[in-house]
Amino acid sequence: MLALKSLILIAFLAYEASCLANLEEVFAWKELSFAWPNEETKNAAIKNGEYVPAHNLPLGLDRWKNKLFVTVPRWKSGVAASLGYVSLDEPINKTASVIPYPNWEANTLPKGDAKLEGDNHIVSVFRVAVDSCDRLWVLDTGLADILGDPKVLGSPAILIYDLNTDQLLKRYNLKHEDLKQDSFFANIIIDVDKNKCEEAFAYIPDLGGYGIVVYSLKDDDSWRFKHNYFHFDPLHGDFNVGGVNFQWTDGVFGLALGTPDQQGFRTVFFHPLASLNEFSVNSAVLRNKTLTSDPHIYYEFKLEGFKGDKSQTSASVFDQKSNTLFLTQLNKDGIACWNPKKALEPENVALFVSDKEKLIFTNDIKIDSDRNLWILSDKMPQFIYHELDGNQVNYRILKVKVDDAIAGTTCVG
Ligand SMILES: *[C@@H]1O[C@H](CO)[C@@H](O)[C@H](O)[C@H]1NC(C)=O
Ligand SMILES: *[C@@H]1O[C@H](CO)[C@@H](O)[C@H](O)[C@H]1NC(C)=O
Repeated sequence: MLALKSLILIAFLAYEASCLANLEEVFAWKELSFAWPNEETKNAAIKNGEYVPAHNLPLGLDRWKNKLFVTVPRWKSGVAASLGYVSLDEPINKTASVIPYPNWEANTLPKGDAKLEGDNHIVSVFRVAVDSCDRLWVLDTGLADILGDPKVLGSPAILIYDLNTDQLLKRYNLKHEDLKQDSFFANIIIDVDKNKCEEAFAYIPDLGGYGIVVYSLKDDDSWRFKHNYFHFDPLHGDFNVGGVNFQWTDGVFGLALGTPDQQGFRTVFFHPLASLNEFSVNSAVLRNKTLTSDPHIYYEFKLEGFKGDKSQTSASVFDQKSNTLFLTQLNKDGIACWNPKKALEPENVALFVSDKEKLIFTNDIKIDSDRNLWILSDKMPQFIYHELDGNQVNYRILKVKVDDAIAGTTCVG
């Protein structure tokens, strides 16, 4: 009996290991380095505190051609650049330096009491989105040194870059009505048809103010939806990740876009971070500014179902070809999938990968145009509540083909 048990255990462990084997570790850093113009500039920045290597935690990612964008929010002082990319040119350097995007200048904070000038500047970014029109959408929170001595350097803004020319196409500062006292914008999702690039919408969840801000590029206008489903679940705000226990009240956080119907509308899946449920609303609702004040709109927001115990999710992303929603699993050090053709209940949610070291705090996931699933894990709780050990690998970027990720799981078919 004991022998059988250990045999099963070995088989189980082997299965887990082979699951992870499908994930290719593309980058692995102990500390993040940057592509400084020269050693003198770097040393001067270290000396005056503008660059504190241990304070640079990568958090969001997205891929465009041979650039893998990485965001580095200004949680603490000494972030060299809040937006940059690492090169995917072969051979890939697993500890590559981050190259600031669009350049160093745009990522440099003003000195002393000086104000930011012009439109092409980035203070602090959590997540970015590459769209199907070769544009990069950046959500700048405008807030530096969040955990230390917070400095508001600008209002939250959307910046749109042309990836072919690296030129800023547009800067849109969110309106006063889009903001609440506790607003915290950490994500941006773009809804666009590649044949109608000018008709793009950005959906921006407000995890602290419990709303979704919608921006229409064509109208150059924004509006805000509120809903009870955007709030956190007080029973599920307890986290144990990488040996750190903490309690969060983060509301609506991850949004993922389903397959468009004939009119171009789609299901928008969403969830609060501190919650075990997934919800949805049709994009026809979010895109319609007049509905923000329609009391009947409450019923257009639906509960999809329950994801299971400890299934709290940060980012999520949808693959149209396989009809799969991918969900990070913060309390399980892994990633899960669900096929919305099936009811959302725990047995239809597959944790296809989990690793107690390599996948501590799976902070962001994205699918690129070649249908690779990219995963960024970064031990963020240790970084926020304690300190990271600079002798260990702290940040990883991994990838797997979507079809390999879901093979053999309940998410197929
Ligand atoms: C990889 O990048 C790091 C950081 O820029 C650099 O120090 C190292 O020399 C590079 N390795 C190779 C093989 O180019
Ligand atoms: C917005 O919703 C209202 C109420 O349902 C509807 O009358 C109107 O046509 C919608 N606007 C657009 C642009 O779809």
